[in-house]
Amino acid sequence: MKISIVGTGYVGLVTGTCFSDTGVNVTCVDIDEEKISKLKKGIIPIYEPGLENMIKNNVEKGRLHFTTSLKESLDQAEVIFIAVGTPPGEDGSADLSHVLNVAHEIGKHLDHTMVVVTKSTVPIGTAEKVRKAIREELEKRGVDITFYVASNPEFLKEGNAVEDFLKPDRIVVGTDSEEAEKVIRRLYKPFLLNNHPILFMDIPSAELTKYAANAMLATKISFMNDIANLCELVGADVNMVRKGIGSDSRIGNKFIYPGIGYGGSCFPKDVKAIIRTAKSYNYHLRLLQAVEDINEDQKRILVTKVKKYFNDDVKGKTFAIWGLSFKPHTDDMREAPSKVIINELMQAGAKVKAYDPVAMNEAKKEFGNTIQYGQDPYDVLIDADGLLLLTEWPEFRIPNYKVMAKLMNHKVVFDGRNIYDAAEMEEKGFDYFGIGRSL
Ligand code: UGA
Repeated sequence: MKISIVGTGYVGLVTGTCFSDTGVNVTCVDIDEEKISKLKKGIIPIYEPGLENMIKNNVEKGRLHFTTSLKESLDQAEVIFIAVGTPPGEDGSADLSHVLNVAHEIGKHLDHTMVVVTKSTVPIGTAEKVRKAIREELEKRGVDITFYVASNPEFLKEGNAVEDFLKPDRIVVGTDSEEAEKVIRRLYKPFLLNNHPILFMDIPSAELTKYAANAMLATKISFMNDIANLCELVGADVNMVRKGIGSDSRIGNKFIYPGIGYGGSCFPKDVKAIIRTAKSYNYHLRLLQAVEDINEDQKRILVTKVKKYFNDDVKGKTFAIWGLSFKPHTDDMREAPSKVIINELMQAGAKVKAYDPVAMNEAKKEFGNTIQYGQDPYDVLIDADGLLLLTEWPEFRIPNYKVMAKLMNHKVVFDGRNIYDAAEMEEKGFDYFGIGRSL
């Protein structure tokens, strides 16, 4: 079987690589020439555990190819996946121009029957727009070639993308033809172990499922952040409350960790986009608006604690930052709470010294030389007036307290992810502030 994947971002690259690993002949397409020439040499544009080796292995075996020519990738392909970006537009709605450009390109070059699958996160109705764009091009060419559209949203998480793709909880596919269903079922067969289902449904339902899933997860997080803030006021410990409610299997213990707000390229964008879609139908998604508002406030919660601790006087003080990426195991800083926090600290006149195990290059693109960068976690602590833990990377979990205490000017830790034990911190001589523990 031969397939084509357009877009070599997280979703496209992981999808293409994992399909090739099952023996399928995959061609990945991207208009970015530099990216493609690097990929051909085995240099991958993103940090994703396990991906590099898998790419190398499948390229060597001759079943994973990279090209900038969409036309070339269509040759003998049975399926083409559109996995290009859908960045948020000014008004929060998803920008479909890349997806539709690809659809037009497909229409310009299609010369045999094919299933066209949208994998990018796209608003309801996009598969229809894809169908229309391809049809338009075929009509212009005066040819009549049968093609089918389908929607197959992706649920993988950055930092765990390969694992998530190989062992999906479920696969969701929206189709309106038996032909598309048959080909897609064949393609996914190797991933359907442990009775995890492949769910076929109508196209709008599949498109909405993706947004509803991310919106539900974002809701759990904002709910817990709201409860955490209440915990501080009433003298409760959110860790206890979390365990207390998470043990109820109807609630579940995943995605109820409070922190400094959700970030990344998905939750913030998708929550905004679904609110926007509903608005276009004159429906106000009140709960999701609150989810979004809570998240914006939560990104500032740690700075509020810092200011309160220093009686609003942080001018000239230096703060060490541990962790910059929006979550561990990725260098992605899109919508990372660290950006808001660092900017707020600098606006208040403070200096910032930051360290992240993999996101330093991304941080340099963002902050240039407005902040200082450390070689390792301890480097940034030298003469620091406080430490802010922003990303729960494993290497920050068991720090050397003695070295910390020696290096820091002022022994106070603001833990944005609740990774430290408050009692232990205090015993080691640090003032300690987490999220959702009594003030
Ligand atoms: C998310 C979804 O989890 C994936 O299923 C989905 O496929 C993906 O979006 C997407 O739409 O492409 P991702 O953005 O990679 O994946 O990251 P998550 O692991 O979901 O984390 C998102 C944010 O929530 C992070 O900032 C994380 O720190 C925060 N979070 C997560 C919490 O604050 N508390 C939690 O309990 C869990």
